[in-house]
Amino acid sequence: MFEDVTAPPTPQAGSPERPRRTRRTAALRAFVRETQLHVSDFIHPLFLVEGAGVEKAIETMPGHSQLSVDQLAREVAELRTLGITSVLLFGIPKAKDALGSGAWDSEGPVPRAIREIKRLAPELVVIADVCLCEYTSHGHCGVVRDDSGVVINDETLPLLGQTAVCYAQAGADIVAPSAMMDGQVAAIRAALDDAGLLDTPILSYAAKHASAFYGPFRGAAESTPSFGDRRAYQMDPANAREALREVQLDVDEGADLLMVKPAGSALDIIHQVRQRFPHPLVAYQVSGEYAMLKAAAQRGWLDEPRAALESLVAIRRAGAERIITYYAKEAARWLSTAT
Ligand code: PBG
Repeated sequence: MFEDVTAPPTPQAGSPERPRRTRRTAALRAFVRETQLHVSDFIHPLFLVEGAGVEKAIETMPGHSQLSVDQLAREVAELRTLGITSVLLFGIPKAKDALGSGAWDSEGPVPRAIREIKRLAPELVVIADVCLCEYTSHGHCGVVRDDSGVVINDETLPLLGQTAVCYAQAGADIVAPSAMMDGQVAAIRAALDDAGLLDTPILSYAAKHASAFYGPFRGAAESTPSFGDRRAYQMDPANAREALREVQLDVDEGADLLMVKPAGSALDIIHQVRQRFPHPLVAYQVSGEYAMLKAAAQRGWLDEPRAALESLVAIRRAGAERIITYYAKEAARWLSTAT
């Protein structure tokens, strides 16, 4: 009469603990599902370039292209059909310089795209990424001191402010600073308020790791640093407490919405931010997360719809309400045909 204490108890007839009861049918599984993905969760990134008639495929991000502003009519019509309600805009200018002055050119690809999208589809929520890295000749997110290669925080702040004002004046619904300069949210808030743009909300890339998963994006946005890396301003991926401190600072500086980036490798941070802050929370499933899934799917190593939707639902389950994802369009299609 020895009892095996290591074996799990075998459910007896009439046992109250039979979690499989609610997994028996698809209908029951749907009935007890805790987290639902909906097409309006997704924010679709767009890469805008100068010129006309440009649709240049981005090799590292299959399904995505650099687009000229005149291509937006087709794109916006497709987003509307799919039910996608929000876009995030990045620009690639014709010419770059040391300060990144193309970022605040009101005739640059992003302000022109904002005006065009607002004309085509005023209801689409347009988020403009505010950073200098696509516009600087060296590819860093701020002003660089020539002799040392150091990104100078406080000289960058007014430029970010000016850029945010430019996008807000063009009609952006939300500006999203991603440069990871200290004090950037406060500087942008002050610049917007000074320009009378009191009602433009700031979505802060509050906790942004210096991640290897941004690799494919830098090809798409042509923003790879020509020297060094971003570890002196983006966060060490090893740090979670520091992420919460970054978020707290941005909240104190006036952030209206918060973002955690990347998403898949920072689910713990998404969860903690959701627990501690009441603000709307966005997570960015970045280019490398997309590229990993795409590459494996192309080799037949993963069931792409299932793997992609699983990655997205995990981000929602961790606590993000909205997800910036390169899968937005495909996920919208898969959700609409899901049984
Ligand atoms: C700009 C910016 C980057 C991304 C979003 N905004 C690049 C970077 O920080 O190096 C990356 C997004 C992605 O990988 O999909 N600072």
